[in-house]
Amino acid sequence: MTTQTFPSRVFSGVQPTGNLHLGNYLGAIQKFVALQADYECLYCVVDMHAITVAQDPDELRRTIREVAAAFIAAGVDPQKNAIFNQSQVSVHAELAWVLGCTARIGWLNRMTQFKEKAGKDRENASVGLYTYPVLMAADILAYRATHVPVGEDQKQHLELARDIAQKFNNDFAASIEKHGFGDAFFPLPEPLIQGAAARVMSLRDGSKKMSKSDPSDQSRINLTDDADAIAAKVRKAKTDPEPLPSEAAGLEGRPEAANLVGIYAALAGVEQAKVLGEFGGGQFSAFKNALVEVAVEKLGPIGAEMKRLVADPASIDAILKRGAERAEAIARPNFEAVKDIVGFVR
Ligand code: TYM
Repeated sequence: MTTQTFPSRVFSGVQPTGNLHLGNYLGAIQKFVALQADYECLYCVVDMHAITVAQDPDELRRTIREVAAAFIAAGVDPQKNAIFNQSQVSVHAELAWVLGCTARIGWLNRMTQFKEKAGKDRENASVGLYTYPVLMAADILAYRATHVPVGEDQKQHLELARDIAQKFNNDFAASIEKHGFGDAFFPLPEPLIQGAAARVMSLRDGSKKMSKSDPSDQSRINLTDDADAIAAKVRKAKTDPEPLPSEAAGLEGRPEAANLVGIYAALAGVEQAKVLGEFGGGQFSAFKNALVEVAVEKLGPIGAEMKRLVADPASIDAILKRGAERAEAIARPNFEAVKDIVGFVR
């Protein structure tokens, strides 16, 4: 184990694929906003990850800007933090190659997200989809980031990033020491996965996570949904016939009820116990009305600001460019050090 301490730095990424939804907001983006007060943060639109499956080029350009707009609309300050898209900082791709030589095939074979996304026709999945988690490790380690706010679904990928960092530190221990980096070059990045909304579930099926790729738009609340759409989706959200319980134990075996309570707690910024204390014993209809209110209050302004921002793509592009320059200034020297450590001539 390393005795090295690393300066705290936050990195996270969001794919520009389809509609951003409440799960992305509560699982990740809301935390991005909170962390900027205490950390140096880099927030990345991972466009290179997006092309591991087919994308329409014009639509990809639009969604890259839309994700950047969502970060800003949610409250991430682009002056204080680097907001950028991955493909503008070539270190991500370069480091991914080196780390791909550290990661083992057996490790990648265990990745459940690849299995889910590749489906039955695995032979026909792109090589990029398979090596996706290596690029993700490179995203984080390019900045020697220490903290990574993500939803629960990214936990396995974060564990892999830690394994890759650890193996690199071990494999090159002597060279790392020789080049003046002590006993570890990469920190082992900590996932920040907390709260009731680390895994927001589909509004139609409490056993499935809310997802951009769900064919039913009723299953998710999109960040750009207007008040009427939010209200309609919450009112139609699947529930069960029992009233809401007053204690958390009463949510056992009731995934849809637990999901709505978790969403309310995360949006209102209160503990689950407080929500149950207030609404326990009551009917879902009253609780749903309150949920609509808090969701519209929180998401309405974000959606409106996103629409305003995307109407001016040149301004977003300028923010992405400036963010990429800041990111590059951190990543490039790190990668030069990696070259020295592995023995490349430069
Ligand atoms: P992506 O684009 O699928 O999702 C972006 C973020 O939203 C979280 N999330 C959820 N959280 C709670 N409930 C849900 N239903 C839900 N759905 C999505 C995700 O956990 C994520 O935090 N591989 C990543 C992107 C990535 C990345 C990285 C993240 C690439 N490189 C480096 C962190 C660090 C992904 O596909 O996220």
